Amino acid sequence: MHICITGVSSGIWLHITQKLTPDHTLTWISRRSIENRINLTHIKWDIRDENLLEKIAKESEAFDYIILNAGVAYFDSCENILPEQHREIIETNLLSTILFINVLLKYNKIKKWIIFIGSIAGKKSSQNGSSYAASKFGLRGFAMQLKNEQRQLWIHIINPKIVSTELHKNSKIQIQWKYKETSLESISSTITSILSWEEKRFEIDL
Ligand SMILES: NC(=O)c1ccc[n+]([C@@H]2O[C@H](COP(=O)([O-])OP(=O)(O)OC[C@H]3O[C@@H](n4cnc5c(N)ncnc54)[C@H](OP(=O)(O)O)[C@@H]3O)[C@@H](O)[C@H]2O)c1
Repeated sequence: MHICITGVSSGIWLHITQKLTPDHTLTWISRRSIENRINLTHIKWDIRDENLLEKIAKESEAFDYIILNAGVAYFDSCENILPEQHREIIETNLLSTILFINVLLKYNKIKKWIIFIGSIAGKKSSQNGSSYAASKFGLRGFAMQLKNEQRQLWIHIINPKIVSTELHKNSKIQIQWKYKETSLESISSTITSILSWEEKRFEIDL
């Protein structure tokens, strides 16, 4: 299987790709590079850079799976988050993902599956992450519409709760999360179940 993943240089997917590498060909997209390994192709791309969208979609082979994982977060009260940070969240987590899917569909580069990495923040109310929640609610809405429209594809959205990764490094405040942690292992085994056709649900809350 050829799998394309956005955002593998740290966090959830750095962990998961280490398990996937032997069996699958991976194309990963991020701004930072990671140690190169067999079956891994790195596209160094800031997914907000629309100038490269067409080129990347046209020049890539078709992917069996595309996993939309790249994301950023700034957690604080709305007025304490800078306008450019709100913009970065919406552009990275939502708009760039929509535009990437748009151009991949246009060039017929998705063979079978799309997997979105959503969040509990896209389903339930919390605090101190207003634009992050907006981006994940939006992503969920996009995924739902796409599922009804692109009947030839399998589409999933996985919603982890809290995962201990670099995503939280920009938080200036200590957030009192009311949710339990989601383990990397449970995300990893969900992906394995999707890849082996055991997991068929559209929305998977972890
Ligand atoms: N950690 C949590 O508690 C949690 C909970 C629920 C959902 N999630 C979601 O899980 C996904 C992964 O997050 P994580 O926890 O693994 O965080 P992370 O360790 O910060 O990883 C984020 C990844 O996204 C990439 N990325 C960010 N901006 C990018 C850009 N403009 N262009 C290309 N790549 C970009 C980063 O790569 P570069 O910096 O190298 O570009 C990095 O590989 C996110 O969508 C997040 O919202 C996380």
